[in-house]
Amino acid sequence: MMVCVAPSILAADFARLGEEVAAVERGGADYVHVDVMDGHFVPNLTVGPPVVRSLRAVTRLPIDVHLMVEEPDRFAQAFVEAGAAMVSVHVEVSPHLDRTLSFIKELGARAGVVLNPSTPVGTLEEVAGLVDYVLVMSVNPGFGGQAFLPASASKVRRVRALLDAAGNRAPVEIDGGIDLETVDEVVRAGAEILVAGSAIFRTPDPTVATRTLRDAARRAAASIGATRA
Ligand code: DX5
Ligand code: ZN
Repeated sequence: MMVCVAPSILAADFARLGEEVAAVERGGADYVHVDVMDGHFVPNLTVGPPVVRSLRAVTRLPIDVHLMVEEPDRFAQAFVEAGAAMVSVHVEVSPHLDRTLSFIKELGARAGVVLNPSTPVGTLEEVAGLVDYVLVMSVNPGFGGQAFLPASASKVRRVRALLDAAGNRAPVEIDGGIDLETVDEVVRAGAEILVAGSAIFRTPDPTVATRTLRDAARRAAASIGATRA
């Protein structure tokens, strides 16, 4: 199992965004996670496609766009054109999920589905064979720096089982409250892409924090491999 780290720029210093992303790239980050919030679906506002376009020019890392917006279909194309390699939409605002995912794939990006903490895993059932990844929210979306919700690890397990049953090896991503305390549990549950904002950017050295989190994640993954062997 290959575990990846996706630093969330929500916790970065936006006046120094290029340097912040370069720092996590040096630390071995696998993706850059960009949280897009519209002030409607979540009670906060963040950034749009121009920021993704600027990041695209300064990093080699794939850009993972997490759309926390009411009408993701209206915005997906602009983010892919700006350089997003991955675009995820919330199931709670996607009545035509099959069409939305197919559309994102046709645009040439990986298409993900996001579940809020209160959204049941069963909502994924009909698209389990179609998704490129599933993002499990381990906090209620809208803000960085919140505490990890303990029920999230079992949810990761259930999403992993649903994808496996559909014959889909798509990774499970987890987002919210991921740090050195929670990493072991979520990796053991089957999470393969770990989003972390505060645990990386709200530290004196984001390069070191990225490397430390990634090493901890890889150790946890190796220990499951050893258990299974
Ligand atoms: C929350 C965002 C997260 C957030 C995570 O709505 O989706 O990506 O940045 O921040 P931390 O790691 O601080 O919980
Ligand atoms: Zn996010």
